[in-house]
Amino acid sequence: MKNILNNNSREELIQAAIEARSRAYAPYSNYSVGAALLTSTGKIFTGVNIENAAYPTTICAERVAVFKAVSEGECKFTAIAVVTLNGGSPCGSCRQVLAEFGLETRVLIADAQGQIVQEVSVADLLPGAFRPEHLKDDSRSG
Ligand code: THU
Repeated sequence: MKNILNNNSREELIQAAIEARSRAYAPYSNYSVGAALLTSTGKIFTGVNIENAAYPTTICAERVAVFKAVSEGECKFTAIAVVTLNGGSPCGSCRQVLAEFGLETRVLIADAQGQIVQEVSVADLLPGAFRPEHLKDDSRSG
């Protein structure tokens, strides 16, 4: 059963993302990002951006949270909170990774004070997403 996102769980998720953000490793951009992912079983997995001296090797907070959850056997997500200084929005790669696991996942985008600046679904963030279905034999021609 999908976990229900009520105001308490919204608040808890945003607080978890705020706490996680303090552990961001962002010495190059100084733009710290915290994420907190709520799974359908009610668990929360956090993530932070982890930068690297070889810049493109950097990974975003959202993907760290998703990869932690999936590697622990959790693939069904109810919501993800993303906290930045100014309510920055998830990048294209993170949108694609979230879309893999469901277009209905709620995305709470908040600033460093925990104010929600936008609440949308993954479908809203990535219209026309390339999905696992596209790789199925019966949806291929030629
Ligand atoms: N960043 C994230 O963690 N998530 C996003 O969706 C956008 C960007 C990080 C990557 C990099 O460490 C810093 O923010 C500046 O781009």
